[in-house]
Amino acid sequence: MTAPDDSTVRSASCLRANMVRALLDQDSVTSESVAAAFAAVPRHRFAPEASLDLVYDLHRTVPVKQDAHGLDISVMSAAHLQGVMLEQAAIQPGMNVLEIGSGGYNAALIQELVGGAGAVTTVDIDRDVIDRARRCLDDAGYSQVKTVLADGESGVADGAPYDRIIVTAAAWDIAPSWISGLTDNGRLVVPLTLRGTTRSIAFDRDGEGLLGCSYRLARFVPMQGQGAATEERKELLRDGVAVQSDDARVRLAAQALNHALDTPRLLQWSGAAYDLPDELELYLALNLPRAARLHASHDIVDNGLVEASALLGVPALVTEDSIAYRTRRENQSTGGFESGVVAHGPHAKNLAEQYVELLRTWAHHHRLRGAAEIRYLPGPAASSLPPGSVAKRHGVVAVTWH
Ligand SMILES: C[S@@+](CC[C@H](N)C(=O)[O-])C[C@H]1O[C@@H](n2cnc3c(N)ncnc32)[C@H](O)[C@@H]1O
Repeated sequence: MTAPDDSTVRSASCLRANMVRALLDQDSVTSESVAAAFAAVPRHRFAPEASLDLVYDLHRTVPVKQDAHGLDISVMSAAHLQGVMLEQAAIQPGMNVLEIGSGGYNAALIQELVGGAGAVTTVDIDRDVIDRARRCLDDAGYSQVKTVLADGESGVADGAPYDRIIVTAAAWDIAPSWISGLTDNGRLVVPLTLRGTTRSIAFDRDGEGLLGCSYRLARFVPMQGQGAATEERKELLRDGVAVQSDDARVRLAAQALNHALDTPRLLQWSGAAYDLPDELELYLALNLPRAARLHASHDIVDNGLVEASALLGVPALVTEDSIAYRTRRENQSTGGFESGVVAHGPHAKNLAEQYVELLRTWAHHHRLRGAAEIRYLPGPAASSLPPGSVAKRHGVVAVTWH
């Protein structure tokens, strides 16, 4: 790797100082130790082919590798999300940390946090990625970080138990090795996908299982290998409209649902406040009795067929021939927003009523940041689970709301 010239080093240092200030201003970083790590590691040395502006943009990822369809399978994660997850991890000097999903930069940040007495192992399933991470780590002066080529689903036994395991790809489930690979007081930070929406959850060990202590909205490239989410089904209804679900109770009947969208819409307002969108989304996704996710393109939204709430995907309640999903409107009297439901199909009225009831329950009882308590219980799921629980391959995610 060629050494960067003086002006690049100067502008990178300046951009890095600005990045650290902005991470602190936006509360992505709240501790001195994490701020110091971001200030110490030259982020651009881990993406030498990218522009400095992109590398030091807080909210943008830096592409590393795409699949045959051009979809990202490896990126350098956005700095703000790395900051949030490192704060969730609460890493202390001297700790032994495993990172699953590599790139080099985050491992270097972790090395700064654990210091000379600690140890960092980073594992990636992709040879190109791990070789590149190795080169960047050596080039930036972090040769003590251990790099491993393997499927992180099995953990990295050589080095276990770990005080912290940080997963940096979206996981559909929690691999048993991630729990058994932790020390008794260990913490797992993992972007876990629940009914199509992902939260970075910090879990502490709780007997055989895990108890969540914080969660934050997160977006990540998907986990590959043994842990890949084969349970996710996706159906294209028409160009620009798709539904997806991993809920075993849901049958995605593409033709009938597409037909439903052409029938007149039923619009029902809840009278309840719409805010804290990520909190509400998690509540809806886990409490709808037959949950799917509706996605629509800008063209479809612009021509009025589907509401803008579906641009990034919105929790939907579906039957074989009907669908209901959330929308919102300005509330003139409060200055905020009111939630509502759009429904189509022969069962539109019934679905809209069920959905509106959930919007009201959330707004009246749980409209708080951090109101969800998330547990992971390893082992087979009971045949019927309470609302808020999701059966996974190796256990059950059980969420209750305060
Ligand atoms: C968002 S990138 C990691 C970013 C990185 N931590 C950084 O420093 O910015 C996600 C990585 O996870 C890797 N990955 C996906 N599935 C994996 C698995 N089963 N085991 C290990 N790595 C995996 C991908 O190859 C990809 O490089």
